Amino acid sequence: MANRNDIEAGSAALRPEEIGVNPPADPPEEPASFAFDAESEAVIERTLKKYPPSRKASAVLPLLYVVQNQMRRQTGSAWVPRVAMDVVAARLDMAPIRVYEVATFYFMFNMAPIGRYHLQICGTTPCWLRGSDEVTRACRDETGIKGWKETSADGMFTMTEVECLGACVNAPILQVDDDYYEDLDYDRTRALLEALRRGERPPPGSAIGRITSAPEGGPNTLLPLP
Ligand code: FES
Repeated sequence: MANRNDIEAGSAALRPEEIGVNPPADPPEEPASFAFDAESEAVIERTLKKYPPSRKASAVLPLLYVVQNQMRRQTGSAWVPRVAMDVVAARLDMAPIRVYEVATFYFMFNMAPIGRYHLQICGTTPCWLRGSDEVTRACRDETGIKGWKETSADGMFTMTEVECLGACVNAPILQVDDDYYEDLDYDRTRALLEALRRGERPPPGSAIGRITSAPEGGPNTLLPLP
């Protein structure tokens, strides 16, 4: 039986020199300052109510997410600058290094600017068996991107490989920003990216009309008795 390396040799697999690094080797250009806007402050107020004041450091993950979303709104690129991590540290009475440790551990936080759309391709076994290599090939063909963590020349797309997204039942999965697109193949993926490029946002979910995680073709259990 062919192993993954055998199969990847003729597929969309990326060579080691094509694989990017995270965090990036070169520090990105930082904004001079960062301050939460009104929309972020409203989210932070709701978030901090979930934790006792003496445990507010537990809110570090949601606040980093607030930073990333604000950067997306303000700059079109969802990432977490170091100055913003310092602001989070001050808000939560944490040492900045503790915030840096968390932000750089979880790869859902981008440590450098990314494209307008973040294409996160699941390459874990169920998605791979169901055609994630074809999703990767379609993303590469449509965007011109060669390697992971790379941004397309037009600044529209950044492509990242991720591990299981917890939606294996509708594999293969492409996560675009926070949305899951499911049951993809080469053509469906290219059509999705073409729509994004036109400024459209197709509804997330199954590309074949599957209802939640029902079997393809409709339910085949718990049917009415004949
Ligand atoms: S393996 Fe891709 S979502 Fe689980």
